[in-house]
Amino acid sequence: MSRKTVVITGGGQGIGRAAALHFAQRGWNCVLIGRTADKLEATAADAADRGGAAHVIPMDVTDLDAVATLAQHVPRADCLINSAGESLIKPISETTPDDWERILNTNLRAPYFVIKALLPVLMESDNPSILNVGSKTTFGGYPDVSAYTASKAGLLGLTRALAAELRPHGVRVVLLAPGPADTPMRWAATPNFDPKLLVQPATIAEALYWLATLPHTITTSEFLLQSTWFES
Ligand SMILES: NC(=O)c1ccc[n+]([C@@H]2O[C@H](COP(=O)([O-])OP(=O)(O)OC[C@H]3O[C@@H](n4cnc5c(N)ncnc54)[C@H](OP(=O)(O)O)[C@@H]3O)[C@@H](O)[C@H]2O)c1
Repeated sequence: MSRKTVVITGGGQGIGRAAALHFAQRGWNCVLIGRTADKLEATAADAADRGGAAHVIPMDVTDLDAVATLAQHVPRADCLINSAGESLIKPISETTPDDWERILNTNLRAPYFVIKALLPVLMESDNPSILNVGSKTTFGGYPDVSAYTASKAGLLGLTRALAAELRPHGVRVVLLAPGPADTPMRWAATPNFDPKLLVQPATIAEALYWLATLPHTITTSEFLLQSTWFES
């Protein structure tokens, strides 16, 4: 049987990179999407070392013309992981219209149009999954992250609606919401973050792989994956 393929936005670092390595280790091929070709190539080389061929597509997922051509470069997709994302920690008084647009375009509009572009390819799989990476903010309200929170809560709405719409077509659509994770995004946003509150990207990758390899008649709802040190 030919190898399964996972398409990962944000595959060059952090959670997307960890997912690529985890799937590659288990014999999947990877298609890695992100803006920085060098990072994608480095992940692709490490994925190949683990046994999975990787193809890179340097692309800004907010460029909808480029996104619309994705299916031309992706002949097979059994799982799509929407991991590309940007964070923004700013009070509303300092959040500009450009900030709002960038965060909403990257974290919410882009997953919608990446899904739309790849859906015909995914529907040819015998066990297709669309896995959206949410956040602890998906389910809560925290100060100084209103634009980011709106994008991640919107992603939950998108996930639920598409889960209902695509269930009759056999497509599993799930949002996995990690708590703060040990990635470049976290350290750039909060350099003094308490390490015991972090979840490792490899753990998130394991959960993504579990979701993608459930029996084809089985799905689940959104869930949070976070350090036990959080009280809620
Ligand atoms: N780290 C955390 O604490 C945490 C917690 C919960 C949820 N999350 C979510 O998990 C996902 C992955 O985050 P991470 O921590 O792995 O972040 P990261 O280390 O910053 O990686 C994000 C990746 O997304 C890519 N990306 C960003 N904007 C893009 C764009 N417009 N087009 C294409 N690629 C783009 C980046 O690559 P380029 O810059 O090369 O494009 C990068 O590879 C995000 O959706 C984030 O919101 C993170």
